Amino acid sequence: MSRTRVCGRISWGVRIGATAFGLVVLFVHTAGPPALAQQTSRDTTAIANRTAVASGDRAGEVLVTVSFAKDVAPILQKNCQQCHQPGAIGPMPLTTYEEVRPWARAIKQRVVQREMPPYRYDDDVGIQNLKYDLRLSEVEIQTIARWVDNGAPFGNPADLPPPLTFPDPTKWAFADQFGPPDLVVRTKPFTLPAEGQDVWWRPVVPTGLTKDRCIKAISVKPSLKGRGAAHHANSDLIVFDEKSGQYVERERISEYALGKVGEMVPPDACRTLPANSLIRWDVHYYPIDTELKDDVIEMGFWLYPEDHQAKYQQDLKNYTLLMKGSELEIPPHGTAMTQGFHSFKTPVRIDSFQPHGHFRLVAKTLEIFYPDTGKLEMVSSISNWTNTWHTSHIYEDDVAPLLPKGAVLVITGYYDNTTANRQNPDPDQWVGLGSRTADEMSHAWIAVTHLDDEGYARLVAEREKRKKTETQNNKNP
Ligand code: HEC
Repeated sequence: MSRTRVCGRISWGVRIGATAFGLVVLFVHTAGPPALAQQTSRDTTAIANRTAVASGDRAGEVLVTVSFAKDVAPILQKNCQQCHQPGAIGPMPLTTYEEVRPWARAIKQRVVQREMPPYRYDDDVGIQNLKYDLRLSEVEIQTIARWVDNGAPFGNPADLPPPLTFPDPTKWAFADQFGPPDLVVRTKPFTLPAEGQDVWWRPVVPTGLTKDRCIKAISVKPSLKGRGAAHHANSDLIVFDEKSGQYVERERISEYALGKVGEMVPPDACRTLPANSLIRWDVHYYPIDTELKDDVIEMGFWLYPEDHQAKYQQDLKNYTLLMKGSELEIPPHGTAMTQGFHSFKTPVRIDSFQPHGHFRLVAKTLEIFYPDTGKLEMVSSISNWTNTWHTSHIYEDDVAPLLPKGAVLVITGYYDNTTANRQNPDPDQWVGLGSRTADEMSHAWIAVTHLDDEGYARLVAEREKRKKTETQNNKNP
């Protein structure tokens, strides 16, 4: 999904009352989704502002009708109900007016604060075209806010969109696109007591694959009953090294966190799942007041056909923000910043960026430094970090950053151990590096496709050509 989004149906009837010259009636009505979808977010913001000005006009009688049936229900269907439906991870369903109405105030607050839907990513800087982007547009946020301010009316039943039919919540992500996974790797069963500390479960299991294959997509699926308890489920690839005659850890295979769909590998790249490899799981469970018996987490692999000819190799690795000799130490009531610099021997494409941190992390950014020109370019900024949601921001194919040889990834993390950080559990503690939630971490997961000079030149040329055609099309509509 791209940032220029379908806004649902948005229509405001605005009646401006008596003036010295009699009754003036102004009716602002914007058309349905297809027309709005064509507009840029700036256009739609302008519409919202116009409406806001009209409704703020105290000189006349003003009536702004935003109703649940017409305006709010379509937004909830598009951006909320995948989680807020019976049995899903949202704490309450938001599928009918009766379910939604008691939550109106909380909904406005969470939406205006941009805490819901849970997709933290700055919208005023860096690349905005992301896959599986859950964010609402400014117009949608204002629609919800205005609806709540006006007393959350139901509206006309005839306007209500038909209810969505939900896919089985135990269904695999990507199933609609690719069908069932070609390979499923499971954790060994684990029983989590009702109460206690957080625990880690690290079983090693064989993939059972007998030939090297290129991965098309990976998705991790916790059990239905265990979804609230499995905070993270990371997994690493372990392969047999002929030289040493030992199994060695090769790379991160996947990082699951509440709310994450999975990873997809672009078709021009191959992420190899080697024959006879093993997966080491690292599941972080948090007790949920009832015993979780024999819980199993599954990882589905969709694979390219055996003869898949990909030009380039992709990998998903952990890039540290702590350079040699530096440390992460956050004093009580203090702040800290860490930074990491990474460059590559060949040109590369950056396919995704997933910051990682706990309670003291407040922001993380990814920039690119070009030594030839001295330019520093912001790629992604997450300045309202939360430890509850770990999202992998996957760039749309035609905007994924292309780095010439020698360009430098600059990753920066900002930590706040003061009381100003609302998530801080204890500002009196010294905080250092560690994997407990009370410690901090300083890295990011980045999927990188390793190109060659020819591939880099081709991708740059293709993008320039597309840009030119788009500019021409805009000039001669
Ligand atoms: C990816 C799943 C997901 C999506 C999409 C999502 N939510 Fe949530 N929502 C959750 C979870 C999980 C919680 C509880 C944890 C938390 O508060 O972060 C929650 C909490 C909330 C709460 C707070 C409930 C309370 O107990 O106070 C509100 C309100 C809310 N969501 C509204 C929305 C609205 C409105 C949307 C769409 C515009 C939305 N959510 C989209 C998963 C989701």
